[in-house]
Amino acid sequence: MRTLTLNNGLTIPAIGFGMYKSEPGSLAMALEEGYRYFDTASYYGNEGDIPQALEQTGVKREEVFIASKIWKSDMGYDGAMMSFSRTLENLRTDYADVLMIHWPRPNLELEDWKALDLETWRAMEDLYSQGKIRALGLSNFLPYHTENILSHCRVKPQVAQLEFHPGHAQAFALEYYRRKGIQVQAWSPLGRGRVLDDELIRELAGKYHVTPGQVCLGFCVQEGVMPLPKASSPERLRENMACLEFAIDDRDMMRLENMPPLGWSGEHPDRERVKL
Ligand SMILES: NC(=O)c1ccc[n+]([C@@H]2O[C@H](COP(=O)([O-])OP(=O)(O)OC[C@H]3O[C@@H](n4cnc5c(N)ncnc54)[C@H](OP(=O)(O)O)[C@@H]3O)[C@@H](O)[C@H]2O)c1
Repeated sequence: MRTLTLNNGLTIPAIGFGMYKSEPGSLAMALEEGYRYFDTASYYGNEGDIPQALEQTGVKREEVFIASKIWKSDMGYDGAMMSFSRTLENLRTDYADVLMIHWPRPNLELEDWKALDLETWRAMEDLYSQGKIRALGLSNFLPYHTENILSHCRVKPQVAQLEFHPGHAQAFALEYYRRKGIQVQAWSPLGRGRVLDDELIRELAGKYHVTPGQVCLGFCVQEGVMPLPKASSPERLRENMACLEFAIDDRDMMRLENMPPLGWSGEHPDRERVKL
C-alpha cells in the first residue's frame, strides 16, 4: 500500500475510507479490500462501527488508522476533552490516530471564533502530549483560520481536510498547506457523484482506460492529496483503491486543475450553507 509521511514522522496510507453515512457492513468490506485508514467523526454517529468491523474481520486495532473529529457543539477545552473520551469509548480503544476540529467556527454569529479554536486546540495538544492522539488535524479550515492556530500552537497540525475534487480543487489553500508541510486530505473526492458525468472527466476516463471515479481519485493522488472516498460495494471499493495504480500526464493534470468550477457541495466555513 502506498503511504504518506506526516510532518511528525507518522506514516499513513495514501487513501482512506470515508465514513459519512457509510453503512455498517461497508467497513468489513473495506478492510477485506485492504483499506486501513478510516475517516469518521463524532457527528457521523458511527464510530462504533469500527471496532465491530475489526472484530468481524480479525484485523488488529494497531493495523488500522482511525481519524475522528470534534463537532461544533463540543468546542472549547472541556468540550473537546469530553468529546474525545466519548470517541474513545465508541471506538473501544485508548488512542486515536488522528483527531481534527471539524469546522473552524460553530456558527457565523460567533465573533471570537479564534479564541474558541485555540482552546479546542490546546486540549488536543494536551492529548497529543499524553500519547492519546498520534496526529492533529483541521477540517474545513481555510488558510486564514489556520494562521491563527499556527501563530499560537505548541504542536503544529499534521493534516488539513478540505472539500477537494476536480472542479473544486481549492488551489490557494492547497498551495498554502503544501508550503506549511501540512498534509491535505480530500473530502468528497468524487464530488458525491456530482462531477462524474463531466465531459473532461469522461474523456480522460476513456483515454486512460479507467472509470470517471478513478480519474477524480487519481487527480487527488497526483496532487499529493489523500482521498477519502466512501463506497458501499466491494467492486467500488476495489475500483477506488486502484486509483493508486495509474498516472495522469502533466497536460491532463493542468486541464483538470483549470476546468470550470463544478460540483461544489454548498458548504463553506464562512457562509450559510447553500442548497444547490
Ligand atoms: N470534514 C468534513 O466536513 C467532511 C464533509 C464531507 C465528507 N467528509 C469525509 O469525506 C468522505 C467522502 O466524502 P462523501 O462521502 O461526501 O463523498 P464521495 O466519497 O465523494 O462520494 C460518495 C458517493 O459516491 C459513490 N461512489 C463511490 N465510489 C464510486 C465510484 N467508483 N463510482 C461512482 N460512484 C461512486 C458512493 O456510492 P455508494 O456508497 O453507494 O457506493 C457515494 O454515493 C466522507 O465519507 C467523510 O469521511 C468530510
